[in-house]
Amino acid sequence: MRALDYLLAAAAVALTVGISTSAHAAKSPRIQTLPPLREQAKIVDAWTEERKALIPGILRKYGIDAWLISQREYAEDTVFWALKEATQFSARRRTTYLFLAHPTNGAPSSYQWIENTPLVWDELTSILETQQPATLALNDHAELAFSGGLHAGERDAIFSALGSSKWTGKFVLEPMLGIETVATMVPSRLEWYKKMMETSWAIIEEAFSERIIKPGETTAWDVEWWMREKIQALNYTTWFQPSVFILNKDGFEAMDDPRAPDGLIEYGDILHCDFGVTALGLNTDTQHVGYVLSPGETGADIPNGLLEGLEKVNRLQDITRGNMKIGMTGDEILKASLDQAHGEGIQGKIYCHATGEFGHSAGTVVGMTNLQEGVPFLGELPLLKNTYYSIELYAEHFVPERNQTIKFPQEEDVFWNEETESWDWVYGQQTKFHFIHTQADKGVQSQGEL
Ligand SMILES: *[C@@H]1O[C@H](CO)[C@@H](O)[C@H](O)[C@H]1NC(C)=O
Ligand SMILES: *[C@@H]1O[C@H](CO)[C@@H](O)[C@H](O)[C@H]1NC(C)=O
Repeated sequence: MRALDYLLAAAAVALTVGISTSAHAAKSPRIQTLPPLREQAKIVDAWTEERKALIPGILRKYGIDAWLISQREYAEDTVFWALKEATQFSARRRTTYLFLAHPTNGAPSSYQWIENTPLVWDELTSILETQQPATLALNDHAELAFSGGLHAGERDAIFSALGSSKWTGKFVLEPMLGIETVATMVPSRLEWYKKMMETSWAIIEEAFSERIIKPGETTAWDVEWWMREKIQALNYTTWFQPSVFILNKDGFEAMDDPRAPDGLIEYGDILHCDFGVTALGLNTDTQHVGYVLSPGETGADIPNGLLEGLEKVNRLQDITRGNMKIGMTGDEILKASLDQAHGEGIQGKIYCHATGEFGHSAGTVVGMTNLQEGVPFLGELPLLKNTYYSIELYAEHFVPERNQTIKFPQEEDVFWNEETESWDWVYGQQTKFHFIHTQADKGVQSQGEL
């Protein structure tokens, strides 16, 4: 197609779906390569130091005087991974941290032991005797991983080591310590998080293109493994197997499955991927949709019902992030978002989670696929600022051209923008399908590549 035809076609699509040509929609994602490992370690360690410096303030916020985190090699507390140095690959021997909210007499606010003798308990007791904390928090929550990472055996070891002292009577549980420590994303992380999201988008854009997909030959798993190899070639890793789902004429209900079934990709299929990358101690999480153009079809011929479906799920994304008020619980946000969506005639499901340090990271969740009325424990936590979230959901839309109600999934990461007090897209929002072009329109690039 000639350039002018293409511009007209693109304008027609933009008009049909009423999308403003925002900067996000027009920019083209590029792979961002990682610096050498030594440099990466420096970057990550600087972030970890910033995080550790926040801990005394977090203790004071929740009225806790001291926090004890202890583990043995290969039986780490979940919080360990957010505190370790880049060159540590596991805890060693017995690795024990103590953090103080109000150190007196010029004492440090944090301590670390890597020990295999009772020395750690002697020194710990002596610090407690000097500092006299009234409360000593342990991570022994029964339901929340980020505040429940103390192993049962290690708990026994702590109680037997401190058993004869008064300190075992000072133990308390404050779930928000582990959660806020892991969830808080210091501002210096954002630049790299944006680059990682851009890389994620770039990989999806290439995967969902005629360069990788040949209809009638390529299967869903071919694309998944191509994505895995691509991640590896870029020296990134990932935290879950990418999934490529095919929504064909018979519909597709298996989005809840941990693993997309394999299948041949054909002309006219709608594709859906769930994809994330890992690097620098950060994780991304993205779901996009693509469309396999049939011979003779161009991007301008995509059924209007599909464009409306994408527009609808985009609206559900905006409704959800608009309702994510700091301090509200995930369950309250879920209800407010679903109420507003239903009021606007949108049916669907919402299942958002914190992301960043872990793929499914610390913090409240806004729904889960099987829990749309509220989520026990996780949904009861308050939403924290200075965190990253995955806005993950789907909207249902009846597509007349297919005589079918189709679920339009999307997932996109947001960060808390302190200046505007809003949740902003880390890279962007998918407002246009990725197209797998055919020979007929091979001159046309998908709009995302403009
Ligand atoms: C991946 O790492 C290898 C080995 O350090 C390096 O030669 C290569 O350039 C890296 N690739 C990318 C895309 O960063
Ligand atoms: C649309 O689907 C319904 C059932 O799902 C069926 O009863 C109806 O005949 C279909 N309409 C057309 C035009 O195929």
